[in-house]
Amino acid sequence: MSQDHTQSPQPRLEVRNLTRRFGDREVVRDVSFSVAPGQVTCLLGPSGCGKSTTLRMIAGVDRQSSGEVYVDGEMICGPNFSLPPEKRRIGLMFQDFALFPHLSVADNVSFGLEGSKAEKRARVAELLEKVGLSWAMDDFPHMLSGGEQQRVALARALAPRPRIMLMDEPFSGLDNRLRDDIRDETLALLKDEGTAVVLVTHEPEEALRMGQEIALMRDGSIVQFGTPYNIYNAPVDREAMAFFSDINVISGTSQGALTDTPFGQFLTPGYEDGARVDIVIRPQHLHLDFDRAGKGPEPTASHGQAAAGVVVRARFMGKESLVEFRMEHDGSILKATVPNVFLPPEGTRQWLTLRRNRCFVFPAK
Ligand SMILES: Nc1ncnc2c1ncn2[C@@H]1O[C@H](COP(=O)(O)OP(=O)(O)OP(=O)(O)O)[C@@H](O)[C@H]1O
Ligand SMILES: [Mg+2]
Repeated sequence: MSQDHTQSPQPRLEVRNLTRRFGDREVVRDVSFSVAPGQVTCLLGPSGCGKSTTLRMIAGVDRQSSGEVYVDGEMICGPNFSLPPEKRRIGLMFQDFALFPHLSVADNVSFGLEGSKAEKRARVAELLEKVGLSWAMDDFPHMLSGGEQQRVALARALAPRPRIMLMDEPFSGLDNRLRDDIRDETLALLKDEGTAVVLVTHEPEEALRMGQEIALMRDGSIVQFGTPYNIYNAPVDREAMAFFSDINVISGTSQGALTDTPFGQFLTPGYEDGARVDIVIRPQHLHLDFDRAGKGPEPTASHGQAAAGVVVRARFMGKESLVEFRMEHDGSILKATVPNVFLPPEGTRQWLTLRRNRCFVFPAK
């Protein structure tokens, strides 16, 4: 799953050690990543973690305290140099994309374009065709739906052939179904144009869906960088794991590099004797079994030992059901998701096992 970076072309965008201080507070700290042409890197993280500030520095509308940005190998800003934003050939698309209300769709798209009238007209026609809005060329923005306006904004941002597109939560104003379609169309179009994209979002699903790579940010720093698969399946810490889904935590104490739990023993190498550890697992990786006259299934190598719990709540969620158990061994609550419909009545006793290769061991909080 990992990408072979030695084979990848020169990055279109390269961000090196960007840092931004306001007073004595570092809101972006030592952020580095690169994006190849036609690829999407998502900056993902909670509110206030420094995503927009990072984008603003790349765009040139804010000045970094230190660090450098390169486009196609050329420095566009560094310690003693900063190319003005309008010279960077970077497209911007934000949530409040504000089309010009008094200009037609075609004029909105051709707004920032240079060249002859015929060239402009051809580029506008090409882009409106690509976003499926040729028919709306002479309409005004207020005559279009939210999704259609979004597509006009995309066409406008792409018209001057930016080498890089910076997008800050551009889809958050749209309703769900529309958003899925527009996201996918937008991606296809950006790929087609060879644009390198940095997409800011605080929604994990959007990042997983849109990004070839994800930079997970927290408190101004990138805490993990990788493909969606790796970020989801090999989280660096408990918070990184919890950012993508509900988690279950089983606490224990390491002794001789092993931790005993009601679900069996776990290897906890590198932990000192007496160290508190958390075994963490996502709800979809718990396995449920029926009670067999007071007993559960036999232990196995892949699932360990079973522990009993009693259903406290079961909810249907659409493509899956979420069942919450109160565990008999310590009264803790564990959540399990099961595909489709599975709604055992409250009080039902069941046996839970953990898919061992889906468990992570982290230091206790
Ligand atoms: N001009 C400024 N002066 C002082 N502090 C600022 C300034 N701009 C941003 N900050 C602070 O920097 C931090 C990061 O802000 P930023 O807008 O980058 O967050 P974000 O990750 O985009 O969050 P959100 O998801 O809410 O948009 C915030 O705590 C913010 O208050
Ligand atoms: Mg922001």
